[in-house]
Amino acid sequence: MTQQDAPAVPGAGPDDQAPLLLYGEEFTRDPAPLYARARETAPIVRARVHEDVEVSLVVRYHTALKVLHHPEMSKNSGPWFEARERQGLPVPPVLEMMRVRPNALYEDGEEHRRLSTAVRDSLGRLDPPILRRTARETADRLVDTFAERGEADLMGEYAGVLPLQMFFAMFGVPDDLGLRIQQLTATVFDGGPEAARANVELSETWQELVARKRREPGEDVASWLLVHPSSNDDDSEIINQLLLVMGAGTEPEQNLIASTLLQLLSDDSSYGRLLSGSQRIAEALETTLLDYAPMANYATHYPVRDLEIDGILLPAWEPVMVSFGSCNQDEALRGDAPGGTGDSGYRAHLAWSAGPHECPAWSVAMMMASVAVEVLLDRLPDIELATPRPRLSWRPGPYQRGLSALPVVFPPQPVRPQDATADPYGSAGGHDPWQPSTTASAPSTPQQTPSPYDSTRSEATSTARQQPSAPRGLRRVWNSLAEWWRGR
Ligand code: HEM
Repeated sequence: MTQQDAPAVPGAGPDDQAPLLLYGEEFTRDPAPLYARARETAPIVRARVHEDVEVSLVVRYHTALKVLHHPEMSKNSGPWFEARERQGLPVPPVLEMMRVRPNALYEDGEEHRRLSTAVRDSLGRLDPPILRRTARETADRLVDTFAERGEADLMGEYAGVLPLQMFFAMFGVPDDLGLRIQQLTATVFDGGPEAARANVELSETWQELVARKRREPGEDVASWLLVHPSSNDDDSEIINQLLLVMGAGTEPEQNLIASTLLQLLSDDSSYGRLLSGSQRIAEALETTLLDYAPMANYATHYPVRDLEIDGILLPAWEPVMVSFGSCNQDEALRGDAPGGTGDSGYRAHLAWSAGPHECPAWSVAMMMASVAVEVLLDRLPDIELATPRPRLSWRPGPYQRGLSALPVVFPPQPVRPQDATADPYGSAGGHDPWQPSTTASAPSTPQQTPSPYDSTRSEATSTARQQPSAPRGLRRVWNSLAEWWRGR
């Protein structure tokens, strides 16, 4: 089936313009010029996420805000998928990221409010100083795994691993279950003779996590979700909510960390300013969000009836995707441009989306990323790119903007002594709810504090110190988890 055979998408930009291709070498290398040409054409253009799949793509800032806040735009992709299947149209794997799942991302109205309140409130109970300390310790331990080597792939061994470890900590995943989830997920995706059995065991492991949290609730996001007044007494709902938070958070987070590191390491002047303290890491992160929106094209909405927005007819139940990558570059976002926000542009970007489905975790995400960048630069001050920036490759795919790898070199550093992991920053103060058996005065050790965090400690630190490739294994497991979340 080719696009010629597929139903047209009337009104999604001028018909005489070729659709913007969100795949292929040109797009993957540098999408910015393609977005710029699209913005000159229309506020919403035709685009393809695959040679057989066309969507309407919102490329201008103010139009995106209208779409994201529109009361007659649904997130439910079910009717579109059903129509495709009825018409015998292909459903290539790239569409799995758009396939409806029973979680907040795909719900509208009251049901969305119910599910998203539970997620927001549970994430909101995380204590920022503790989160910051946990992120520092996680980051430090990851740096330990490669510091002596003098070279590393910061995507595969750092940015791509840290968010998953943080999620296990925030969810209170105990050691044994964390390891089981990692191992079983890897087996499922190896696709060997054990895959089917592993898949069954994987579902059972998530169920066991929920059962344990019901029996012995802790101070963690999984336990808070379970007792939230908006949550139904339904294990599969909780599992889907947990998978959403992990899936929605991990990939963009790793891209934010890696792209910010790339920015700082490849721009001598900004790096220098950062070191002299005149540019804060938070500002570098905001620049990344603006120029390399980690979720580049997403937040797909479906008009519940034929709608016209900014002169473009959007047919009922056809996908309308928002190009955060393009909208963030729209002149309208910049200062005194005609129709502009009057803002400097930094705070008004759309990298977190807007409207009811705006990212509920942006402050958690910013904190994790700022700590990750700060710890790395503190520990390895003479770090340099090992591959010149133009030769670095970006991951293909319409939705994300993220590096495939970020190779660096630095003068080898000694690994910190073991006891340096016991709250070296003293930032949390008081009782640590993520380490229930610890008191403020008693320094934590893995033996005394069987906290969820220990699962990553044993996997990524103790083991990794002897086997420097362990984080690569975790990264592979995360890739598999991400695939699983996408429904593959
Ligand atoms: C750089 C990091 C991140 C970026 C750029 C980002 C961006 C986004 C965007 C654009 C959406 C809207 C998606 C849509 O409507 O289809 C979203 C939603 C969401 N994000 Fe994030 N996110 C990040 C990190 C995180 C983290 C760390 C978490 C969890 C701790 C998280 C949890 C969620 C959830 C649960 C939703 C669904 C909200 C809803 O539909 O009500 N995100 N995020």
